[in-house]
Amino acid sequence: MKAAVLHEVGGVPRYEDFPDPVAGEGEVVIDVRAVAVENVDKAIAAGTHYASSRYVEKLPVIPVFDGIGALPDGTLVGFGGPRLPYGALAEKTVVSREATVPMAEGLDPVAATVLSSAMTGMSIRSAGGFVPGETVLVQGGTGVAGRLAVQVAKLLGAGRVVATGRNAAQLEEVLALGADAVIDTSLPDDELAKAYAAACGDGYDVVLDYLWGRPTEILLRALTPDSFALAKPTRLIQVGELAGSTIALSGEALRTSGVEICGAAKGFTAESMGEAFAQIVEWSRSGSLTFSVERVPLSDIEAAWQRTDLGGRRLVVVL
Ligand SMILES: NC(=O)c1ccc[n+]([C@@H]2O[C@H](COP(=O)([O-])OP(=O)(O)OC[C@H]3O[C@@H](n4cnc5c(N)ncnc54)[C@H](OP(=O)(O)O)[C@@H]3O)[C@@H](O)[C@H]2O)c1
Repeated sequence: MKAAVLHEVGGVPRYEDFPDPVAGEGEVVIDVRAVAVENVDKAIAAGTHYASSRYVEKLPVIPVFDGIGALPDGTLVGFGGPRLPYGALAEKTVVSREATVPMAEGLDPVAATVLSSAMTGMSIRSAGGFVPGETVLVQGGTGVAGRLAVQVAKLLGAGRVVATGRNAAQLEEVLALGADAVIDTSLPDDELAKAYAAACGDGYDVVLDYLWGRPTEILLRALTPDSFALAKPTRLIQVGELAGSTIALSGEALRTSGVEICGAAKGFTAESMGEAFAQIVEWSRSGSLTFSVERVPLSDIEAAWQRTDLGGRRLVVVL
């Protein structure tokens, strides 16, 4: 079969021949149809993700740990956790039968790969305790997950949605998706702190953070009151770290800002994840939740893997 094969940590996968997988006990061979290539996949292949060692311990390996494909009887499924060295970026892969879930009826495989990113938006409710009418700040709102989150927040009934980004044209697109205000994180520190304060309305109730690093440090500074007044509580949900893997967090900021920090997985159960995804599919079907995709064939993987011009579009390898 043809596959995208990674030969070195930090390298670029190459389109080449690879032995077909054979199903063992309890396994099934999947005929792969669509695979989204995300930051997490690149970080794993680069050896910079906390889960990297498991995936790139032995090389060569086929990258990407999930996708959409067909069972031998033709049923379309979502799959995860291929048996290494197999991965999703190949004509075929092999997974445990239990690691497949039926696709929602009529859902296009490409849409299914992108819509999973909208689950991080749903975490404003499950992890952040969001209730309708509240104000949501999406840090990194110009990315694929951020754009979906802006729309999800509105669909869940947010009173106000503020989004950040660092590209003026893309921030305009996020306004068109329904954000009430946008902030350019490339502003100098003091101006950025003022922009966070100016855009918050009655205060940010929930922050969905795909960036971390400098923008979040400045946000926390902006949330820290300059008096003994009690600050309005803000629930900050950590999702990504594209602007930096660590922040300097002073005791004072945490003590006085009213910020509570948690991870996006908090509060999700298998059942509530299923319900949340069904809601996402429904919004997508009705046209209320939109996204943009860059489709590429597997044979173009080498160039596609290195692209930096996606601007809020999800790269999806279609087989
Ligand atoms: N997709 C998911 O389902 C999922 C699940 C869990 C966690 N995450 C994490 O969430 C994050 C976002 O994922 P995504 O798929 O939306 O990524 P994406 O489409 O590549 O978008 C990344 C966004 O972050 C911005 N950005 C990148 N580096 C930045 C920096 N140094 N300073 C400020 N902004 C920066 C980008 O702006 P430019 O366009 O200007 O570069 C873009 O708006 C990633 O860390 C990912 O691992 C995603």
